[in-house]
Amino acid sequence: MSTETILKGQVLSFSRSPFDEGAPQDAAQLSEAVAIRDGLVAGTGSLAEMRALLPRAPLVDHSDKLILAGFVDAHVHYPQTAIIASWGKRLIDWLNTYTFPEEMRFGDRAYANEVANRYLDLTTANGTTTVCSFCTIHPESVDAIFSAAQTRGQRIVAGKTCMDRNAPDGLRDTPQSAYDDSDALIARWHGVDRLGYAITPRFSPTSTPDQLEAMGALWAKHPDCLMQTHLSEQVDEIAWVKTLFPQARDYLDTYEEFGLLGARGLYGHAIHLEERERHRLREFGAALVHCPTSNTFIGSGLFDMNGLMAEGQRIGLATDTGGGSSFSMLRTMAAAYEVGQLRGTPLHAAQLLWLATQGSAAALRLEHKIGNIAPGMEADLVVLDLASTPAIAQRTTRAADLWEAVFATIMMGDDRAVAEVWIGGRAV
Ligand code: GUN
Ligand code: ZN
Repeated sequence: MSTETILKGQVLSFSRSPFDEGAPQDAAQLSEAVAIRDGLVAGTGSLAEMRALLPRAPLVDHSDKLILAGFVDAHVHYPQTAIIASWGKRLIDWLNTYTFPEEMRFGDRAYANEVANRYLDLTTANGTTTVCSFCTIHPESVDAIFSAAQTRGQRIVAGKTCMDRNAPDGLRDTPQSAYDDSDALIARWHGVDRLGYAITPRFSPTSTPDQLEAMGALWAKHPDCLMQTHLSEQVDEIAWVKTLFPQARDYLDTYEEFGLLGARGLYGHAIHLEERERHRLREFGAALVHCPTSNTFIGSGLFDMNGLMAEGQRIGLATDTGGGSSFSMLRTMAAAYEVGQLRGTPLHAAQLLWLATQGSAAALRLEHKIGNIAPGMEADLVVLDLASTPAIAQRTTRAADLWEAVFATIMMGDDRAVAEVWIGGRAV
């Protein structure tokens, strides 16, 4: 049986990137309504046009609320949900003190299930409909998040985090077991319903050259999988990588040498990049993932959004939960704006919204399925109330246009601004 709905509101879609030539706001279009049929967007336009398209569909009237594609969070660690906002450490100490002990618990499938469901509850409440998550070394942690997403009909990407050195006992695999376990998980989950697999070496300090080589071989066997890792997040980390890989030209080279640089590769943080690294990332069309709340929280540095966009890099936006200090892509956009300000290059609201939807979807190579509202796209939507608190409402009444109003919600909004979330054509 066919399921049909029409949503009325201010429906926002993008016809191009607001980072391309031209005024950022001209990249976006507003329509009065969106029609949904069988989990997909059937059309956008006036309410009369949508009624003509789907004459029997029930109408959900959101008045002047903003309807946009559900947020896409391109880099998260769902197993770090319970240790978010842990005080006082920089990257390596933060991993050893807070992260690794917590990740140790995910060999317990019941605990992994509990956190996976809690994590998806929290992100859905914040309007995020797709995430790309690291798991832990335990296959159970991957089964847990994929099962939870499958039950909810959600499109997510995830992968078993692989580490065979510089991690505590109980949190290391081997080159062979990482290969075999990941291979089996790909067979079980990749392409099933809306799920996709990312081969996931955590970062080069926690993998031996043998393990990186095994991951490269696995990616060559499954070229349609994504590959996610971390790159040049903190200065101390980069110095450590130099001592671990004395032959490497730079940090990226520790991946490139083992076949771990590619168009379907996602490189989290990418703050302190050298010229050669920027050149090679651009050449391959690899995706850089900006994690602004994490970069300020862990004290990593300021991502060069404008410079990297200007040279044509593919860039997504992400919370990096729990190194990042929020589950909210609104808060994450606000932090991206603040990082831009510290670099003297403020981002337009249209650019922020694009990064959190189409930009991140393109980083995941899913831009034809999610991250925009257009015919044939999957109906993952978020409905935003642009007057969700008294503080925001009083600012919105003074807004000269939609962008001023949206910007107040980006800077000050939280899950109270999320009026409704649609996943695969169903309100959740
Ligand atoms: N680098 C390697 N692992 C991690 C992680 O879990 N979080 C962050 N922010 N950086 C990392
Ligand atoms: Zn990360």
